[in-house]
Amino acid sequence: MNRRDALTAHLEFFEELGAEGFSRDPAWRFRGPVPAEPRSGANEPAPVANEPAPVANEPAPGAASSTDATTPNTLTRIREELGDCTRCKLHQGRTTLVFGVGRPDADLLFVGEAPGRDEDQQGEPFVGRAGQLLTKIIESIGLTRDQVYIANVIKCRPPNNRNPELDEVRTCEPFLFQQLDVIRPRVVVALGAFAVRTLLGSDQSISQLRGQVFDYRGAKLVPTFHPAFLLRSPDRKRDVWEDMKKVRALLA
Ligand code: URA
Repeated sequence: MNRRDALTAHLEFFEELGAEGFSRDPAWRFRGPVPAEPRSGANEPAPVANEPAPVANEPAPGAASSTDATTPNTLTRIREELGDCTRCKLHQGRTTLVFGVGRPDADLLFVGEAPGRDEDQQGEPFVGRAGQLLTKIIESIGLTRDQVYIANVIKCRPPNNRNPELDEVRTCEPFLFQQLDVIRPRVVVALGAFAVRTLLGSDQSISQLRGQVFDYRGAKLVPTFHPAFLLRSPDRKRDVWEDMKKVRALLA
């Protein structure tokens, strides 16, 4: 794609998202240099004016289960602990365990459901069609994939992309919680009902939950529609743009 086509596609995406105009004010898109070292105080809740914080979720029991007193928990250590995981039946059909990708000290973390076929092949979350849309969503608030962290609740592809089962979630979620505790993002975006229900322990629908901001493990949690759903229901992109504007404000 040449530059002109890329720019046209980008503007069309903004139009689809319902973005109204652009500001020439550099502050609108500028985000200062991201510190190389983990931030101090990153776990303090971001100030949010007029945002409800309906759920204060407890840290999950499995979050630090296997961290011994002498080994600092890092993403590398969590990945090593997962190893060539055979803890649940999903290992039987996977090609690659999909751990997560991005900045280990990202301010913004996206959580999806589980790898699909492309992710299973490539070992990276959100690289298929839904992933390409997620990349555009990230870019719509002036960030790149490299500046955020992307993970899934489930690390191995369920056969034929079926919904993950409860035992699979219970087995895999402690690793996501550990990732969250190491990265300590300021904002977590839960992509779709499955991610938000797992994180918040809620049984409400994504339509009921989105539009709100929740306190979650020292971060702000913003539920939004899953990009795969947006591919089927493009008219809901406008809602996602509203959610992403909230995310941008929380990060500002
Ligand atoms: N859908 C997800 O929830 N995660 C991926 O990594 C890809 C598609």
